Amino acid sequence: MQKNPTPCYYGDYLQLNKLLDSQLPQSRVYGTEAHDETLFIIVHQAYELWFKQILHELRSAQAMMAHDEVDERMLGTLNARFDRIRSIQKVLVEQIGILETMTPLDFLDFRDYLIPASGFQSIQFKEIEIRLGLKRAFRSEMDRKFFYSRINDADRAYLAEREAECSLLESVEAWLERMPFLEFAGFNFWLEYEKAVDLMLHDDEQIVRGNPGLSEDVRAFQLKELAATRENFRSILDAERYAEVREQGRVRLSRRALLAALFINLYRDEPILQLPFHLLTNLVEVDELFTTWRSRHALMVHRMLGSKIGTGGSSGVDYLKMGAEANRVYTDFFNLSTFLLPRSALPVLPAELTKELGFHFSKTR
Ligand code: HEM
Repeated sequence: MQKNPTPCYYGDYLQLNKLLDSQLPQSRVYGTEAHDETLFIIVHQAYELWFKQILHELRSAQAMMAHDEVDERMLGTLNARFDRIRSIQKVLVEQIGILETMTPLDFLDFRDYLIPASGFQSIQFKEIEIRLGLKRAFRSEMDRKFFYSRINDADRAYLAEREAECSLLESVEAWLERMPFLEFAGFNFWLEYEKAVDLMLHDDEQIVRGNPGLSEDVRAFQLKELAATRENFRSILDAERYAEVREQGRVRLSRRALLAALFINLYRDEPILQLPFHLLTNLVEVDELFTTWRSRHALMVHRMLGSKIGTGGSSGVDYLKMGAEANRVYTDFFNLSTFLLPRSALPVLPAELTKELGFHFSKTR
């Protein structure tokens, strides 16, 4: 490593002149400075800095996942990227409390100066969403209408370029589709899984039918629930049914990818599947933490604005609450829990396959 010829100075290294000279309250420019506008600006800037760091991690994660063959050795680094993103997200959720030390009345001292600027125009936030997999086609009609019309041409063009790239969701899907082990030397895991499911549902049905403590109404209700569970399992075991469900937008991943993710979840104790399982769990947690942030932001907005519309022109809190539920990306991984079986009911894997899934040493020299 080459040595730097001039000594490093704290303020220069961090470019503090630029950073600390970047807070200009509009209330100071146009009237009497509102004390809390500085807090408002700094909190937003802190968010944008953290968004920048999240994007740095995400780009790196995407580059690792983009290969046709993901080197298993990279999975540890990949997981470290997501562990870091999750830590930052927790700070992002927590940070809302700082802004809530500003009262709604104090906010009104400067709010009108901000119109029509809005969080809609946080291009980094939108880039994070798109990179994770929230592309235009998956946004709600309302979301598409609002934010794409509120940003300038350069930002719209930049986001369009990101939309054209392979998202993390897409590369995770391709990686799952390539997973071996699903058919192994004459052993068809899914046939065995289906048998285990049938056995479990059959046992459940016998318990409901034979339980003398149930009234006929409750028994009928429970049998109906059981039929719905059976139908749920059919939606992944039957390729045609899966295609219908996917067509309706109820799942996003291809069937092969979803089944691979399920296999990883079911056999996550096998050494070779532990890092992939950690990765899938990380994606679920990143999604959950974004949803938590959205819900927390919506609550804060309710407190600040009541039922007023936003500076960006949306319906305000109702729009944000809708987005918290609609803009989730990795729901397929959440829904996998529907298809888990107790470890004791899982098909026993052939010894050869278990060996492949473990780490083993050869004694031959
Ligand atoms: C007093 C504080 C805040 C209020 C009253 C507020 C209000 C709103 C409202 C009403 C919207 C919907 C769009 C609109 O009509 O403008 C919105 C969107 C948004 N806000 Fe805030 N916000 C506040 C603080 C923040 C902070 C600190 C951030 C951090 C970056 C932030 C990030 C965003 C983002 C990213 C969106 C777009 C969300 C989406 O499209 O799903 N907001 N905000």
